[in-house]
Amino acid sequence: MSKQILILPGDGIGPEITAEAVKVLELANDKFQLGLTLSHDVIGGAAIDKHGVPLADETLERARAADAVLLGAVGGPKWDKIERDIRPERGLLKIRAQLGLFGNLRPAILYPQLAEASSLKPEVVSGLDILIVRELTGGIYFGTPRGNRVLDNGERQAYDTLPYSESEVRRIAKVGFESARVRSKKLCSVDKANVLASSQLWREVVEEVAKDYPDVELSHMYVDNAAMQLVRAPKQFDVIVTDNMFGDILSDQASMLTGSIGMLPSASLDAHNKGMYEPCHGSAPDIAGQGIANPLATILSVSMLLRYSLDQAAAADAIEKAVSLVLDQGLRTGDIWSEGHVRVGTQQMGDAVVAALRNL
Ligand code: IPM
Ligand code: MG
Repeated sequence: MSKQILILPGDGIGPEITAEAVKVLELANDKFQLGLTLSHDVIGGAAIDKHGVPLADETLERARAADAVLLGAVGGPKWDKIERDIRPERGLLKIRAQLGLFGNLRPAILYPQLAEASSLKPEVVSGLDILIVRELTGGIYFGTPRGNRVLDNGERQAYDTLPYSESEVRRIAKVGFESARVRSKKLCSVDKANVLASSQLWREVVEEVAKDYPDVELSHMYVDNAAMQLVRAPKQFDVIVTDNMFGDILSDQASMLTGSIGMLPSASLDAHNKGMYEPCHGSAPDIAGQGIANPLATILSVSMLLRYSLDQAAAADAIEKAVSLVLDQGLRTGDIWSEGHVRVGTQQMGDAVVAALRNL
């Protein structure tokens, strides 16, 4: 039976970068006879414009029925004034939560060709290969109560809640340990256990899970120190496991080590490796529509989709190889461009990956 892939381009640069990733996915589908059927729908601001909500029930149902989802990015100034509960980002959070996609894998890999594009010295980042495992459906992003109130003295106050239950920590810790096991067997759990109750429980539960993984070397680090170590000596890390908000922040930071956030793909997985795949970057409204965004993070997300949800490692490897070949050819979008390279737009970059993949 054919596998269903739902494409949700979203807003801003989302449609541009997704179009290039879809070309790559369609070619992989033919070349490796994957038997995929692709369909498109709307999410985020595009869904607000069409349905009045950032994620329509029918879209959620199609995502549920699909074997995997490929998403571009959501949000933009057009929808910034909308009430918080139906902002474009709520659509993204809702689909993550409703599909149970608690395990977010964000690999930060420095392509050797891009060592000069990093804001850090080449010797600090060369060979960098970090995997951030971010908890994606809990913590402060979803905690209640949350909201606004007026205090007795008439002052306005806003508040969020950061809850983590034992089972939520346990399942993401397992993803961290399992990931470490197939890499260099080093796991660093990042928290703020010197201040936060949720982090104290986090640390306790991670220690408990560690008993099942005696082969993995576990360390703990406070998030402020982790942020510092990531720019001081990033290669000390292999797999990092952390909560939703810390993972959001540290993954953006880690992305810059690799030259650009435009290079970072991600996989968001449920307990059965069904997943949604998206670049780590946002909708970049400032450059939307100009045809200059880097499509490689989304193209690399296609590779993760094939690897994790469809078990098509050969096709996934080929896409990564094609990306590497295109970088070898010297092609660079503006975000990764440096002297002596050829500056290309979104579509040219996508076409070059397609051509490289075709010739493999
Ligand atoms: C990300 C993004 C999202 C997040 C936003 C768009 C809600 O920053 O995927 O990292 O905070 O999770
Ligand atoms: Mg983010």
